[in-house]
Amino acid sequence: MKFVNSNKEKIKEYNKEHKLKYYIDTMGCQMNENDSLKYAGIFESMGFEKGTEADSNFYLFNTCCVRENAENTLFGRLGYLKQKKLKGKDIYIAVVGCMSQQRHILEKIKQSYKFVDIVLGTGSMSLFPDKVYKILINNKKEIEYVDVGNEIEEEVPIIYEDKYKASVSIIYGCNNFCSYCIVPYVRGRERSRKPEDIISDITRLAKKGYKEIMLLGQNVNSYGNDFKEKKYGFPDLLKDIEKIDGIEIIRFMSPHPKDFKDDLIEVIKNSKKIARQIHLPLQSGSTKILKDMNRKYTKEDFLNIVEKLKKADENISISTDIIVGFPGETNEDFNDTLDVVKKVKFDQIYMFIYSKRVGTKAAKMEDNTPNEEKVRRLETLKKVYEEQLPYNNEKMIGKVYKVLVEGKSKNNDKLYTGRTSQNKVVIFEADEKDIGRLKNIIIDSQHLWYLKGRIIDN
Ligand code: 5AD
Ligand code: SF4
Repeated sequence: MKFVNSNKEKIKEYNKEHKLKYYIDTMGCQMNENDSLKYAGIFESMGFEKGTEADSNFYLFNTCCVRENAENTLFGRLGYLKQKKLKGKDIYIAVVGCMSQQRHILEKIKQSYKFVDIVLGTGSMSLFPDKVYKILINNKKEIEYVDVGNEIEEEVPIIYEDKYKASVSIIYGCNNFCSYCIVPYVRGRERSRKPEDIISDITRLAKKGYKEIMLLGQNVNSYGNDFKEKKYGFPDLLKDIEKIDGIEIIRFMSPHPKDFKDDLIEVIKNSKKIARQIHLPLQSGSTKILKDMNRKYTKEDFLNIVEKLKKADENISISTDIIVGFPGETNEDFNDTLDVVKKVKFDQIYMFIYSKRVGTKAAKMEDNTPNEEKVRRLETLKKVYEEQLPYNNEKMIGKVYKVLVEGKSKNNDKLYTGRTSQNKVVIFEADEKDIGRLKNIIIDSQHLWYLKGRIIDN
């Protein structure tokens, strides 16, 4: 379905006089960040100017509900804007994204946050302009529940903030129903974009000078499972993207270990462009907990995939997500997680304490681990992770890596930053004209969270 904005010209006309500014506050994952770039595109196509948090009139909160603290963030920020609105300022507020896709949240906003003007979930971006029109011009508020549905909206305007790297969604929704996770409830079932739409987006980006592409999806390696008419999966898509001239680095997140098959490893191995970094969410190292989480792989399956990846290319770095304190997790289960962490030596770990989500299967499971114990496990995990960080970094010293020069370092005007294919941050001396270029850099030293190096190209 093509995104159509029949209100664009009318709102543009309104903005000629009122000159409204928009401000987007994004919570949560890269999918949300990508959606926010689309909302920015929609705002600007309607004549809004980008404002700051202080001087804007139209505030859009793109929300996350994956853990409880993400939800609390929204309500805190809304409270602050209420004061501004009560002072009689011309302020409009929209709440969109995952959190607002839940009925109980929609009701809560209707009851207790009456000053919110628009509430929209995850599947209904095309309804946004009409709601903006009604609020601005008719002073009419319509807040109702809209199902996620099965549509994919194509050709939504999008504004990338970066000039050399861009994210592109390839699949929406999730069918996995991991027992702790709210995402399948708020993002709906898996819907893959047509390969030709993805390829044409990336080709356009390459022509504009983009060099690095991040393919996004809740489960990227399920890509194509919903195609009825042809057999075309994630490995096929990667091979086709590889052919696009100008694109030099291809990243993707997140793949699911249960779908990480040998054909995908083969494509990664043979590719010149797929980054030597794979994000492979472990969640837990205990086969029993993985079963309760409905992850559909065992500790050994996970270790097997890592081994195959390292065999395909020893330079591949592995990052992961881990949840501690899932209902019923014993010390022994947690030790299994630590065991995997020690064996794999992850380059990056995003770690979370389990957060109970209303409506999920795990919310009904008995959870008698005290919170202090969960915090202790998180601290232990952090310590083990940090102790082993130098291990992979030190192996990089003295070797040469291709680095996309992203810009100046925040702390020192003479230094520049970029990332290796392994997604390691490198700091080095460079020239303004190097920004956006790939440079060969030799690594001199490691400093846990970054490496220092030197450009060796002439
Ligand atoms: N509690 C804690 N962490 C969670 N995640 C998803 N749901 C929950 C939850 N209920 C984590 C998973 C996932 C990442 C994006 O967020 O590790 O991979
Ligand atoms: Fe959530 Fe599991 Fe789907 Fe990831 S794969 S979005 S953790 S249900």
